[in-house]
Amino acid sequence: MLIAIDGPAASGKGTLARRLAAHYRLPHLDTGLLYRAVGAQCLARGLLEDAAASADIARALDTDMLDPDALRTAEIGEAASRVAARPDVRAALLDLQQRFAAQERGAVLDGRDIGTVICPSADAKLFVTATPEVRAERRFRELQGRGEITSFEAVLEDIRKRDARDSGRSAAPLTQAGDATTLDTTALGIEEAFAAALAVVEKRLSSR
Ligand code: CDP
Repeated sequence: MLIAIDGPAASGKGTLARRLAAHYRLPHLDTGLLYRAVGAQCLARGLLEDAAASADIARALDTDMLDPDALRTAEIGEAASRVAARPDVRAALLDLQQRFAAQERGAVLDGRDIGTVICPSADAKLFVTATPEVRAERRFRELQGRGEITSFEAVLEDIRKRDARDSGRSAAPLTQAGDATTLDTTALGIEEAFAAALAVVEKRLSSR
């Protein structure tokens, strides 16, 4: 079974993907980490403006070296969104995502273009949303928990900027697949959101 989960920053898609993967005992790939790893390496080497170098970095990415904790900073999220707008970077990461999705047991992938580009024939597709304010509140608490000094206003501004860049780019923009089910988590806690996501997947499975 292949489950595709897309949505904007801090919509809760990562948590839902992890929970669904644990529930169905499927491998899970947080594809945002791939773009974050490329963004982080570009930042570290002062190459964020260099499109050709960022594509080389994406081609040489060692996925065994991904450190989610180190990659989840606000600065790296911003760098990820910048490199992710480049078609060559996306092309360099396509094959590894599709190979992950092709595992015999199935998989859960979350990102921005899973249901549209990476796994268009996924068995179940979810598009997870929430208002920018609620997403900013969640991200603010997450960053505070990690000890990052920031303000709610700065996080909200970052979320709005990233939404605009992710949705407005020409290469695989953040859009809902026609056959994806929307899950608005604005008013939902984690357990409620998980129950709703599970119900969507079960319904999709029973109608296969
Ligand atoms: O956790 P959050 O939603 O803030 O970000 P993420 O999922 O880790 O992704 C970071 C950035 O990578 C996003 O803003 C997107 O620009 C980009 N991304 C993408 O373009 N395609 C994906 N499949 C996953 C992430």
